[in-house]
Amino acid sequence: MLDAAQDTYRRAGGRPLIELGAVAKVWGGGGAALQAIDLAVAEGEFLCLCGPSGCGKTTVLNLIAGLETATTGEVRVAGQAVAGAGPDRTVMFQEHALFPWLTVADNVAFPLEVAGVPRAERDRRVEAMLRTVHLWRYRGHHPHEVSGGMRQRAALARCLVGRPAILLMDEPFAALDAQTRDLLHAELERLWLGTRTTVVFVTHNVREAVRLGDRVVVMGTRPGRVKRVLDVDLPRPRGANDRDVTLLAAVVERELKIEIEKVIREELDDAWTPAASDLPRDPARGLGGGI
Ligand SMILES: Nc1ncnc2c1ncn2[C@@H]1O[C@H](COP(=O)(O)OP(=O)(O)OP(=O)(O)O)[C@@H](O)[C@H]1O
Ligand SMILES: [Mg+2]
Repeated sequence: MLDAAQDTYRRAGGRPLIELGAVAKVWGGGGAALQAIDLAVAEGEFLCLCGPSGCGKTTVLNLIAGLETATTGEVRVAGQAVAGAGPDRTVMFQEHALFPWLTVADNVAFPLEVAGVPRAERDRRVEAMLRTVHLWRYRGHHPHEVSGGMRQRAALARCLVGRPAILLMDEPFAALDAQTRDLLHAELERLWLGTRTTVVFVTHNVREAVRLGDRVVVMGTRPGRVKRVLDVDLPRPRGANDRDVTLLAAVVERELKIEIEKVIREELDDAWTPAASDLPRDPARGLGGGI
């Protein structure tokens, strides 16, 4: 069942850490979110998932995180079937999800505290992490006292402080302005080059996907499926405005545009069309016929 997944892994090179084999997800009401997804992510790989809204990107992350279960098919991490959440996988969302009542340092320390890491070791790791993401000066601030970019850096630090094997990121920088996003891309790339944590990164922004990913998976919708996988064989560190990033982003954009236009067409077809009897008799008097 995992042959097709193994195939995408072989193209990535390296040992597969995450494998999705013929994974389908059907919701209670009968709506299919995903249909027969085959995908493998190599250990240490940075994989980006792009696709129109509703194609199942978050569902894929949740399946890997163990927050959802597949209706059929297999989801494996390090060769083991995923049977729930675990400390080897952390998820970072668009909203920073920091605790507002804790300082930046205490937020970053939180997962270590939960894991029972002794105080001295915890302090050492939090300091190292905060220095890495350039937040040491702001360790005593609360989330509302720092910028949106700093909050996302603190959230990233909190995700990485427990040294997970896998970092799952769901549009983590979507709410940031372009300049802050560029800085965070550089920061994330630097951190990733240092740790080689396996990353699955969801985004609507194709330039972001090409700027960050070793591969970009373009998903299609209704039902969600893998439409195309592109290798991003460009040197690092990269910039969002590098010529080759721009050229490859244009290719991905074309793929995505076709899918998005398909969704919009289908949504227009689904839209309610009023019957003649539902319309006001005298349009000049507006809806409700003069009430
Ligand atoms: N808990 C749920 N119950 C029922 N349907 C759901 C549930 N979660 C998601 N869906 C549906 O599954 C499909 C895929 O959702 P998902 O959130 O994975 O898409 P997405 O690609 O992440 O979208 P977006 O880009 O808007 O975040 C959608 O049609 C969504 O409405
Ligand atoms: Mg989503």
